This record gives sequence, structure tokens and C-alpha cells, in this order.
Amino acid sequence: MIKLMKILLIGDIVGRTGRRAVRELLPNIIEKEKPDFIIANGENAAGGFGLTEGVMDELLDYNIDLLTTGNHVWDNKDIFNFIDESDKVIRPYNYPQGVPGVGYKVIKKGQYTLGVINLMGRVFLGDYDCPFRSVDQLIDELKEKVDGIVIDFHAEATAEKEAFGWYVDGRVSLVAGTHTHVQTADERVLPGGTAYITDLGLTGGIDSILGMNIDEPLNRFLTQLPNRFKVAKGDTKLSGLIVQINSDNGLATSVKRVCEVYKNN
Ligand SMILES: [Fe+2]
Ligand SMILES: [Fe+2]
Repeated sequence: MIKLMKILLIGDIVGRTGRRAVRELLPNIIEKEKPDFIIANGENAAGGFGLTEGVMDELLDYNIDLLTTGNHVWDNKDIFNFIDESDKVIRPYNYPQGVPGVGYKVIKKGQYTLGVINLMGRVFLGDYDCPFRSVDQLIDELKEKVDGIVIDFHAEATAEKEAFGWYVDGRVSLVAGTHTHVQTADERVLPGGTAYITDLGLTGGIDSILGMNIDEPLNRFLTQLPNRFKVAKGDTKLSGLIVQINSDNGLATSVKRVCEVYKNN
């Protein structure tokens, strides 16, 4: 009998409002779907910028198994106090050598072992190591030890994310895009058996600009003046993806988008 491993991925959690969505909505999703692993992008979880140890612990209390990050990983300096010790958070793998933290983890839970890799795209983001070629050897090594491989590909450009999905199709279980905070409707299992979505979307305030209070980013567009962004309040949502993986070959069998809303009052 095929043993199906179920994974829930949660898109960028933005600030307290995003964390509230996780707190209020995740228990029902867990009860309904019974995921074997829950992975979330936490790069904006602390006040919209970065991650603190307290915020990480709060998210782990909500039953998230591992946090991935992205270009905002260093925004809150507290990250430097715990990223090297923690086995619950990873940063993009294709940062230059010597950067704190690690870019992948192998996590075990129940009967399954999962490899999780965090990567960052380069288009409009920065001059990182090649996300495509940097991961080839790592995939080969992980394949020997795990039942499935998940990649959070943190990138801005849709073309770069699609290209990456095709590049690893058949070699990993799942590629989930993060960073844009806008969920795409292109979830599918590619012909080689890799589940794919261009972006998991926002976990945070609904009436917002990418999870931030509307006035400040709007004013920045209108005036080009710098100002301080605040996390949006009010109704909130949890966005993500549920993927089933055949643990015998590590390939995806189904994929389903998640977008749940929590009304604040
Ligand atoms: Fe983000
Ligand atoms: Fe980002």
C-alpha cells in the first residue's frame, strides 16, 4: 500500500495579524487535514520585518515544525542570537559561505523524514549564489536520507520561479514560491511529479498592502518619501498549500490551495 505523507505549507506570516491567523485558523486545518509536517515562511513574522526568538517560539507553539525565511531574515537583529543554535529555522541556502544559520534541515516526525531547503531567487532581489546550480548536489545527498524534499523558493519574478520548478521537476517533492505575499492560482503537479505553486500568498491582514497598513506604502508611492511601515490590523487570512507525497518515491500525488479567513470581530 502506498503511504501518503501530507505537508502543509504556510505563506509569509506578516506580524501579529498574521500570527493571529495562524493561531485562530490552523487548529481547524490540522483537525481536518492531519498534515504530517507544517512548514511556514516566517521572514516577516516579527512586526513585519524579520523574526525574534519569542515570535519563533510562539509559532512553534501553534504546531509549526519549521520556519523558512528570505530576504528579510536579518531585519530583526535578534536573529543573530538564535539562528545558529535553533533547529527550527533556516535561511536561504544560496547566501555566501560563512553566513550564520543553515539553508536546509532534515526533520523527522512520526514515521517520516523530510528534507526542507530554503532558496532565494536573484531577479530583483540580489546577487546570491545561483539558486539553480547550488542545489543539485544537495538534492542528490538528501534523496538518500529522506522520504520527501520540500523547497521554499523565495523570489520575486514569476518566470524565475517557474524556471526553477521545471529545473527540479522529478527530483524533489514540492517547490513552493514565497516572497510576493500574493497567492497564485497555478498550483499543480508537474509531469515529473514535483508539486508546484508560484506563490503561497499572504498570511496576514486582508485590507492591506502585502500585509502592511495601507497608508504608509501608498504614501510612499505617491510621494517617494521614506516612511515607516506598520502591520495591518483587522480581518486576517492564512494562505498556503497542502501537498500529498508518495513516501516510496518522494513524488507528489495531489496539491490543494489553502486560503482561510478569520474575521476579527
Ligand atoms: Fe515576505
Ligand atoms: Fe521576501
